Amino acid sequence: MKRLFAAIIAAGSIAALAGPAHAGDPDAGKQLFKSICNLCHEAVAGKNRVGPSLFGVVGRKTGSVPGYNYSDANKNSGITWTPEILDRYLISPQAVVPGTRMGYAGLKDDTKRGDLIAYLSTLK
Ligand code: HEC
Repeated sequence: MKRLFAAIIAAGSIAALAGPAHAGDPDAGKQLFKSICNLCHEAVAGKNRVGPSLFGVVGRKTGSVPGYNYSDANKNSGITWTPEILDRYLISPQAVVPGTRMGYAGLKDDTKRGDLIAYLSTLK
């Protein structure tokens, strides 16, 4: 019975990873975060800059960081940041949240996005 549960859990984690095209490398993602996202975002809870803190971003709703003044476009988009939606958002923020104030054109490289999302998933 225990083995059956283990098999079910393993199958579940594979399904969870199936979202973005590439299951990423969090260490490479951290470097990307530092060189791109850190211009405007912190990875630490409660620290907002030009953009809101990205601590705990995976699984949270848009517009939910206390003390950060979001655009209406972001706040009202009703998105919960799953790895799948982050993947599309990071290709083109404006395409997923039209009118967002995030002034970043997007990251077209699938591998880099996978790495970045793997890193964002560790911020909890
Ligand atoms: C030039 C500044 C800038 C850069 C660079 C930038 N962002 Fe942002 N980001 C913002 C701003 C500003 C917002 C708030 C958008 C709004 O309120 O419309 C935001 C919002 C977000 C959100 C939504 C957060 C929420 O709580 O709803 C995510 C996710 C995000 N950024 C991820 C990233 C990632 C990952 C990178 C690096 C690839 C990045 N951003 C690079 C400025 C930036």
